Amino acid sequence: MALSPAAPRRILFATPEIAPWVKTGGLGDVSAALPAALAETGLEVRVLVPAYPALVAAFPERVAMARIERPGAELLPATISRAALQPRLDLLLVECPAFYDRHGGPYQDRGGRDWPDNALRFGLLSRLAALLASDETPLDWHPDVLHCNDWQTALAAAYRRYRHKAGAAIVTTIHNLAFQGLFPLSRVHALDLPAAAMSIEGVEFHGQMSFLKAGLQHSDRLSTVSPTYAREICEPDHGFGLDGVLRHRRDRRSGDLVGILNGIDTRQWNPATDRAIAAPYNARSLALKQLNRAALAERCGLALQADTPVLGMISRITLQKGADLVIEAAPGLLARGARLVILGSGDAGLEAAWRALAAAHPGRIDVQIGFDEALAHLIEAGADLFLMPSRFEPCGLNQMYSLAYGTPPVVRATGGLADTVVDCTPRTLADGTANGFAFGPPSSDALLAAAVRAIQVWRDPGTWRRLQHNGMARDWGWAPAARQYAEWYRSSLGRAR
Ligand code: ADP
Ligand code: GLC
Repeated sequence: MALSPAAPRRILFATPEIAPWVKTGGLGDVSAALPAALAETGLEVRVLVPAYPALVAAFPERVAMARIERPGAELLPATISRAALQPRLDLLLVECPAFYDRHGGPYQDRGGRDWPDNALRFGLLSRLAALLASDETPLDWHPDVLHCNDWQTALAAAYRRYRHKAGAAIVTTIHNLAFQGLFPLSRVHALDLPAAAMSIEGVEFHGQMSFLKAGLQHSDRLSTVSPTYAREICEPDHGFGLDGVLRHRRDRRSGDLVGILNGIDTRQWNPATDRAIAAPYNARSLALKQLNRAALAERCGLALQADTPVLGMISRITLQKGADLVIEAAPGLLARGARLVILGSGDAGLEAAWRALAAAHPGRIDVQIGFDEALAHLIEAGADLFLMPSRFEPCGLNQMYSLAYGTPPVVRATGGLADTVVDCTPRTLADGTANGFAFGPPSSDALLAAAVRAIQVWRDPGTWRRLQHNGMARDWGWAPAARQYAEWYRSSLGRAR
């Protein structure tokens, strides 16, 4: 389809992480797959990301495009370099070794402590995103839309407000409202923002500065990663103190806050082509899933019988993800003959509780603390059921991987989980929509009750096969979301302030 002359053609996509090189969670996956899907719709996309060591090593052929000697105040000089990823899709790396060439994670050192200069590190990323989107860009490439993602890039909208007048439309996507980029308000000067930005209309949030609030306030439009989460964040329960700002945006102009459901990268997550699993399979060869189940049991030291359901979980081990609820529900699950395989890392106290649980139940519960991409694939393929009892979940990717892998998920009905998982009932089985199990209250009792229901259905192979097929039949890929983003960009153009 030809793009009309008014349609945006060039998108600058700013993000703090991109898989497979730098990933702490779903944002890394999204930042790899969504720009690729956008490029496939005909848009020209450049992904702006800090030049972390893994990216520097992966792209030795990158070309320096511009040097920014004075980004302002305490922001350090940087070089923008470019590397090609696929047709119409390039990386723009922000090279500033003093900020980004560090061993550890993108946000934390190896000991799990936040880098002390994160305000400057992500202030620089935001500052340069705003510059490249403005009429003052040093590049001969002028984007129509700057698409910011999460707090690490959200300050771009404030730089546009206070430092640039003209340029691209700026849109910001919220992947998780719980992370806001809060710093002392006095850092405003170091970040080269004027004193006027210290007001409630600027970046101030309860006496601190909030990168995310700046983005919510000053972007032309906002989105989040599922329709249900778009509604939830406008209420105090899920608003993390920003629900008032979000309600204001939502009510002021229709379409200022939209929810676009993420997809999954079907190049990476497809059971028929997955090289990390023991035996690839599809909906017509589900019997092969048993081989993955056996391989998972062997890898994790689980004692299995034919009638013991294997429950998998891959997650940050945090309260958001309901990691504590699974600990409380574990005795009840074991009493029903279940085996548990858990892969994750996060909160030290919850990690210790998980380890203790595994130590108390050898052969029945296996806990792997750490980040292990290959094991994540084997769990998706080898488990019978997948657990995702999140207290809140903006979108969630793992439940979609599970659905695509014929591993029905047991989820709390919130955010993107509510938008993707259809609870198994006589009615949804009859109309062919049932694909998993959902529960309401954020309690271990409710989780256990849903998992017990799931185990009962699992013991009825005919019904189970229908559930698996329903999940596998849908295309969970990015194409529908890419079309919605393209339309969202188009309708954002006239709105630039
Ligand atoms: P979030 O971004 O909130 O952590 P998502 O479900 O959107 O949750 O995405 C998490 C991503 O990170 C998925 O691709 C998941 O497989 C991956 N992941 C999380 N923890 C681990 C782990 N310990 N090992 C491997 N992959 C993990
Ligand atoms: C965040 C959310 C998760 C979402 C991901 C990608 O990390 O917690 O629900 O899937 O971003 O949008």
